[in-house]
Amino acid sequence: MGQLFEGISFDENPLYETIIQELVSRKYAIVENFFTADEVLLLRNALLQKYDDDKFKKAAIGNRTNEIIEKSIRGDFILWMDESNAGNAESLFFQKINDLTAYLNRTCFLGILHKEFHYALYPQGTYYKRHLDTFQNDDRRKLSFVCYLNEAGWLPENGGELVLFLDENGKEEEKSICPLPGRVVIFESQIIEHEVRPVNKERLSITGWLKTR
Ligand code: OGA
Ligand code: MN
Repeated sequence: MGQLFEGISFDENPLYETIIQELVSRKYAIVENFFTADEVLLLRNALLQKYDDDKFKKAAIGNRTNEIIEKSIRGDFILWMDESNAGNAESLFFQKINDLTAYLNRTCFLGILHKEFHYALYPQGTYYKRHLDTFQNDDRRKLSFVCYLNEAGWLPENGGELVLFLDENGKEEEKSICPLPGRVVIFESQIIEHEVRPVNKERLSITGWLKTR
């Protein structure tokens, strides 16, 4: 039981505390098995079903009011998720996200009021060039959240690493992260530039943002 102020206490969640520590100390966190193998399978099947039903569209750069499709910058296909219309897999997804968000707000006063998430599918040969997740006309994105839904046994040869460009005392360092199923990467949207390296095999994920007002 943690003590925030006299009279207000909360149950400390060790996993969330680790995430917070990593975010505070280095602006990103990597969480293994944030989603179980069963949950990944459910979400993966939900994604593939919607992709087969032709619900995805070519991802654009810029935000929803200012979209430009630019294949040389990103080649993925996306579908925005609708929490009010969530199926089983998605309800379970949002339950975990909402729980984490509530914890962050309660313990770190992050002031997360909104969220937006989309499925993403990178066909073989596609990538997403180095970028920042904030837009000129909208800087409300606070934390970026990526969750990988690839098959178990995803190999390094499949490519599609997420590369974070980090500032190590003024020197740039690259942190390369393999998109392993169940793995979640959370980072500060306004600070960390990143890219998705070319994929040699279809790459599935959910990406989203926790936003301030
Ligand atoms: C994005 C993004 C990273 C990833 O969609 O903005 O950077 O690993 N995704 O999929
Ligand atoms: Mn990004």
